[in-house]
Amino acid sequence: MKVLVTGVAGFVGSTLAREMLNQGHEVVGIDMLTDYYDIEIKRANLNRLQDRNFRLVQADLLDENLTALLDGVNVVFHQAGQPGVRKSWGTDFDTYTRQNINATQRLLEACVSVDRDIRVVYASSSSVYGDAERYPTTESDRPQPVSPYGVTKLAAEHLCSLYAANFGLSTVSLRYFTVYGPRQRPDMAFTRFLKASVLDEVITLYGTGDQIRDFTYVSDVVQANILAAQKDSISPGTVLNVAGGSNISVNEVLEAIASLGGRPLRIDRQPSVKGDVFRTGGSTEAIEKHLGWQPTVSIYDGLALHYEWAMETFG
Ligand code: UGA
Repeated sequence: MKVLVTGVAGFVGSTLAREMLNQGHEVVGIDMLTDYYDIEIKRANLNRLQDRNFRLVQADLLDENLTALLDGVNVVFHQAGQPGVRKSWGTDFDTYTRQNINATQRLLEACVSVDRDIRVVYASSSSVYGDAERYPTTESDRPQPVSPYGVTKLAAEHLCSLYAANFGLSTVSLRYFTVYGPRQRPDMAFTRFLKASVLDEVITLYGTGDQIRDFTYVSDVVQANILAAQKDSISPGTVLNVAGGSNISVNEVLEAIASLGGRPLRIDRQPSVKGDVFRTGGSTEAIEKHLGWQPTVSIYDGLALHYEWAMETFG
């Protein structure tokens, strides 16, 4: 297979691209290397992709000739986007609409203009659910995002479904539930907590810590993408949860990290941040039925692997 990975310098994009290369596929990666976080982290992610089957295009999806980029490509893994639930308010919203909605629309237009079947696997987010109707939340439950970020991820997901409905484009949207593991983004909870634990720094805790997340280990997310790319019989426009099954509170995560590190954590309690949902928890019945996917890494095993990486990286 020849695949295009957008956002290839990011956490999930680079991990997925590495696995595709390991499996012998040809990978074209595009990334504009935004400065949302330290660009050196993205360069380090890219360094891991050196391979004769890898080509990097450093460009903005909104400027690049995407039709040329899609030459010979069978699958697009669309991981690019402006991440972060808590930063999507105020004037930053422009960046979110541009990079999450407009860039996706342009990519979908390019895919339908190419006269071949292309599978588009879109990295959607559990944040589309907001404070969900029920738990575990199923894909047909009403999405009601509580952050501007979630609104843009949902809009892009709708774009995928309507390009599927109108042009028969073979899209699959995967709603990732808080992905973690080695090389997780530096603004996310686990990497911040683990780094603070290793360096004996202060952890900032937003809210009571009673908030619950369905954390999902990165290799399981990669596997869901690969299955979504390879499955022949899947209706265009399909939307699936990718949820790790943890249902653990942030306080319980902090306890587990303290025990891994063998010392108490220093915690600075701050008010909760607008846009942060109280609970996520996804049903994986649909993805199991359609793709035969189940999470394989438990939260405590995954946390130990993430901790090991944090020791190597920050210790
Ligand atoms: C994450 C990603 O950042 C989003 O890009 C993604 O779309 C989303 O998951 C999703 O699954 O939809 P979030 O769940 O907020 O968002 O991920 P974390 O950064 O791991 O935060 C988990 C919890 O820890 C949140 O309640 C957050 O407020 C809290 N937290 C985070 C802290 O208390 N302190 C921190 O320093 C960071």
